Amino acid sequence: MNFQWWKEAICYQIYPKSFYDSNGDGIGDLQGIIEKLDYLKDLGVNVLWLCPVYKSPMDDNGYDISDFYHIDPQFGTDDDMDKLIFEANKRGMKILMDLVINHTSDEHEWFEKALEDSNSKYVDYYIFREGKDGNPPNNWRSYFGGSAWEQVGNSNKYYLHAFSKKQPDLNWENPELREELYEMVNYWLDKGLGGFRVDAICNIKKTFCEGIFPTDGEDGLCFIGNWILNQEGIEEFLTELKEKTFKPHNSMTVAESDVPKELLEKFIGEDGYFSMVFDFSYTDLDVPSTGEWFKPVNWTVREMRDKIFQSQLETQKIGWGAVYLENHDQPRSLNKYIPSEDIGFESATMLATMYFLLRGTPFIYQGQELGMSNCRMSSMSEYDDIATHDQYYRAILSGLSEEQAMEQMYRRSRDNSRTPFQWDNTQNAGFSKVNPWLKVNENYTSNNAKQQIEDSTSVWSYYKKLIDLRNESEYRKAIIYGEFLPCYTQYDSIVAYKRVTNEESILIINNFSAQDCEVIIEEDIKGQILSNYEGQSCRGNMYNFRPYESVVFAL
Ligand code: NOJ
Ligand code: CA
Repeated sequence: MNFQWWKEAICYQIYPKSFYDSNGDGIGDLQGIIEKLDYLKDLGVNVLWLCPVYKSPMDDNGYDISDFYHIDPQFGTDDDMDKLIFEANKRGMKILMDLVINHTSDEHEWFEKALEDSNSKYVDYYIFREGKDGNPPNNWRSYFGGSAWEQVGNSNKYYLHAFSKKQPDLNWENPELREELYEMVNYWLDKGLGGFRVDAICNIKKTFCEGIFPTDGEDGLCFIGNWILNQEGIEEFLTELKEKTFKPHNSMTVAESDVPKELLEKFIGEDGYFSMVFDFSYTDLDVPSTGEWFKPVNWTVREMRDKIFQSQLETQKIGWGAVYLENHDQPRSLNKYIPSEDIGFESATMLATMYFLLRGTPFIYQGQELGMSNCRMSSMSEYDDIATHDQYYRAILSGLSEEQAMEQMYRRSRDNSRTPFQWDNTQNAGFSKVNPWLKVNENYTSNNAKQQIEDSTSVWSYYKKLIDLRNESEYRKAIIYGEFLPCYTQYDSIVAYKRVTNEESILIINNFSAQDCEVIIEEDIKGQILSNYEGQSCRGNMYNFRPYESVVFAL
């Protein structure tokens, strides 16, 4: 197994708007992150991925960039960013920025020039098409709902936007545009970044087709993914991007992309486009593949386990993976995977053990280390997220009552994980001196970092143990490089696997259930490395796993 610095990393995702507000305007900022670097250092993580902090009108909270070269004043200054990179590096931590190059903001000067002057070279930086009989060129639905085409004034011209209408898609067929993007990527990498998390990168190649396609929703529109996800020819763009930017910098790159099995080698193989990709299969197991998350999908532990294990086995054959439970597009993992009556220390630490010791670079989303949970907003007006408003609208359109639709927002809104970080039990959870941009979860008085750091039996302390185990224990090699081997799949509620090297092996057993489960262990157990319960109950090789018990054994 080739050494790469990013295989040994532990990554922590920061949602800058909600991490820490240093200047009392209710919005998290770069100085705030700098002030909290020691918190992250103490936790033991060594790579920090920041969601976008570039200049942006914030239609999609920074994923609509109007200037790639400058920091949005909400977050601070360009100097603050340099300082953050410097201060993080000083502490042995690298920064990943978010690279959003499938689209820009409609307030980016390229797009403004494209609209102003039909002869400008910038027209071809975007995707403009003629309408048909007064309608858009086709009936593609954007990811955020509604037509993926926006009419330009009263003309018969439309531009494509896979996400919101304030996020026009870039035309990657244009070589000049691609060169401009690579130059920008190198500008940031030259500052000493560790690399990038790469947004919506599987969407950059489009197969344009006119016409009306069979609808798959109540809105008469059709899922756009069929024409803009991993389209043939994308490999040329991705190879060029890698060769001209990431490769010469030895960067860590994490692609946000659901990659079909057949393409995985090209993405993360020996000379793949990226270091690793996020697999959506087990984090999106409760939503339909069209992304209409207001329509819940039932799942079982067995199905979830199959998805995780399949992803591990396929990735292991080919290259390296990223393992995660949460991010800013997902609700909190505790609420997704655990029935509400079972949420607590045991279930939170069981989830942590289950995913953190899988093969790949682990990602922790801010607040996950505290077991932060979903936040119920009192009305739709308290939700900020553009996708939440769209899903609510579509839920109502599909016949759900207001109450039913709200239930789905509580369950799945992206704002569930975007609420301010809970630092302590003072006003606004110690996040800000003023009312924050998004509601603080009311449970901050009993769930916050200060309290958990002081308590050796907290979820935070347990995360720290897992992190230490990976960073510096005698099992480090097995945890980072060991082969992944599934086991005990005959038990419905057990998620168990081994990590094996020539020198050492560990066995991880998680009881994903509120009921006891007896497991006959076939291996010779040398000892126990970590557990979320006191003691161990076993008779001979018959081990009884208590509700949500996790044990890591040395073999
Ligand atoms: C994926 C990002 O994670 C999400 O937050 C964003 O809305 C879309 N890409 C569009 O950039
Ligand atoms: Ca601020």
